[in-house]
Amino acid sequence: METVTVELSERSYPIAIGAGVLDGLGERVRALRCGRRAAVVTNPAVASLYGASVVDSLESASFEPTLIEIPDGEEHKNLAWFGFLHDHMLQAGLDRESPVIALGGGVVGDLAGFSAATLLRGVPFVQVPTTLLAQVDSSVGGKTGVNHANGKNLIGTFYQPHLVWIDVHTLRSLPERQVRAGMAEVIKYAVILSPGLFERLEEGIECVMRLDDDVLVDVVRLCCELKAKVVSEDEREAGLRSILNFGHTVGHAVEVLTDYREYLHGEAIAIGMVFASRLSAAKGHCAGKTAARITALIRRAGLPTEIPDGLDGEVLAAAIKADKKVSSGKIKFVAVAEIGRTRFDHLTCEEIVADAGY
Ligand code: NAD
Ligand code: GLY
Repeated sequence: METVTVELSERSYPIAIGAGVLDGLGERVRALRCGRRAAVVTNPAVASLYGASVVDSLESASFEPTLIEIPDGEEHKNLAWFGFLHDHMLQAGLDRESPVIALGGGVVGDLAGFSAATLLRGVPFVQVPTTLLAQVDSSVGGKTGVNHANGKNLIGTFYQPHLVWIDVHTLRSLPERQVRAGMAEVIKYAVILSPGLFERLEEGIECVMRLDDDVLVDVVRLCCELKAKVVSEDEREAGLRSILNFGHTVGHAVEVLTDYREYLHGEAIAIGMVFASRLSAAKGHCAGKTAARITALIRRAGLPTEIPDGLDGEVLAAAIKADKKVSSGKIKFVAVAEIGRTRFDHLTCEEIVADAGY
């Protein structure tokens, strides 16, 4: 088992990563010394695969868990289901010591985390991510929240988990399209922070996507280490953490404009990363060859690279404007300087679109 620590003084927490370790969850949660009543938040698809193992493991460690299911899908990451979770957690008799355990992908993690942050002003929170995207990114760093009709993740809070428990075996049941979507975040970490990881992916991205235990544990650990370091330095995105939004400005706009139906989150981010790389080259921040390498790797992962037909520049600019990251009319756009290094460019939404040639 590998362990990475997110260093945040008294709120520091471990990310434990292993293969076939789901059964050990209960004992590890018990070591957090929280109350016996617990809520496991999941969805029907994940519950049918891993719900029983997690509940058994918690019961064996003397917990009294209640399994709470929300429907599958990004469209349920909203205030209505947030309220539903609170209703069920209170009905189950959770108190301030009761752990809330998120078992699933980023949707479950963001929604359960926001519920844990707000229930009784905050209860212990454990992430058990079961998608590649959630294992390398969303379960770490404490961003929790829900979508609003006006845009993605517009309502939420920072609330760090007390533990992240990652079993890479759970990825064996993940549909291939979801594995590819998760690879988008792996590529993101390589582009913004790690030339070594980028070269490794160029050498054999297919090898990671075969989901061998050793390779996966290593790649997930590496991404978690990179994210943990950024979060430890800038928990609330006052500066450095914004680099993790690479590809997200346009990615979020694409998700909103396609009603969250056409693209998975990772796919939309892939389009956004290609857009950001090409814009970086067009503005002279990086070499054209760098943008071409990033585009080629994303394409090799089987991810989309182009803004969908029919989204013209004006529509795209308007959607970008609605994003929460716009401040005084400008976006802190994450540009690539070279593989492993980024820089910020403060641009209006119209400039972002026009300079990229839309
Ligand atoms: P998701 O949670 O919708 O999961 C994808 C699909 O995989 C779902 O249908 C789910 O039921 C299924 N699934 C999950 N685990 C499975 C498994 N082991 N086997 C089979 N099926 C499984 O999507 P996601 O890509 O994990 O997360 C996307 C969400 O994460 C978005 O809402 C995004 O905004 C959010 N996000 C948050 C952060 C953060 O820092 N908080 C970072 C990135 C993304
Ligand atoms: N996924 C971006 C962040 O956690 O900051």
